[in-house]
Amino acid sequence: MTLPNESESGRVVVVTGGAAGIGAEIVADFVEAGAEVVVADLAEPAADAAKAEYARVDITSDEDLQAMVAATVERHGRIDALVNCAAVYRTLGGKRPLEEIGLADWDLVMRVNARGTWQAIKAVVPAMAERGGHIVNISSSTARNGSSGFAHYVASKAAVEGLTRAAARELGPRGITVNAVAPGLVDDEATRVLNDAAYVAAASSRRAVPRSLYPADLVGAVRFFSGDAAGFVTGQVLVVDGGGVFV
Ligand SMILES: NC(=O)c1ccc[n+]([C@@H]2O[C@H](COP(=O)([O-])OP(=O)(O)OC[C@H]3O[C@@H](n4cnc5c(N)ncnc54)[C@H](O)[C@@H]3O)[C@@H](O)[C@H]2O)c1
Repeated sequence: MTLPNESESGRVVVVTGGAAGIGAEIVADFVEAGAEVVVADLAEPAADAAKAEYARVDITSDEDLQAMVAATVERHGRIDALVNCAAVYRTLGGKRPLEEIGLADWDLVMRVNARGTWQAIKAVVPAMAERGGHIVNISSSTARNGSSGFAHYVASKAAVEGLTRAAARELGPRGITVNAVAPGLVDDEATRVLNDAAYVAAASSRRAVPRSLYPADLVGAVRFFSGDAAGFVTGQVLVVDGGGVFV
């Protein structure tokens, strides 16, 4: 998807979690628009993935993140945008009442989704401090509607939204914007691992626009927040779910 008059030519974008699912769609969109894209993920992108560089990064490792940022700056001279898409989602396991979530599972989800997002932001700030930049965090509409069965995941995404506001306030004076895109339930492979078809269909039917939400529906919002068109928008969360929840 290319926004009118918005070429990404010459821009340098890092996408964490860009190897699969929603992240891979975001990567493909930036590549198509001409950006230099670095996929920072634990997993390698599929062989047929869009043309992008790959850096093996665990977002809970400051060392991995710093090495990726240093290599990107050495190769491209700067980082214009960071999209924080990496999270524990597909591997959450089955839905469970909150009393049955184990401490280790809770800690893992919070460590990757909340702490890892903060670590990735910290890592790119020095590379953005001189010229400014844009950070886009991927939250989830679950932070608003409190979906049952994933209390740790819902809490982690609410933390991402609080972090978005705190980082926006602290980094604004340095010319860095920080916003979040909160997708509703996306009809993708990860969602089908976690939910049965009836649940996905019910989510679609509750929307103002009653259809499935696909990764391609998210790329416009991500591109908007990652570019200068949104240069004076910061600390905001944009829900993209066909009008499932209104905020
Ligand atoms: N699919 C949905 O319905 C949905 C809805 C709302 C929000 N989201 C969010 O969208 C984002 C992408 O979701 P998805 O459906 O593509 O999920 P996914 O599980 O398919 O993709 C997550 C990606 O993050 C990577 N990752 C996980 N832990 C990592 C770590 N420690 N370091 C680096 N990379 C790591 C994985 O390798 C994977 O490529 C996530 O933030 C998810 O919470 C998804």
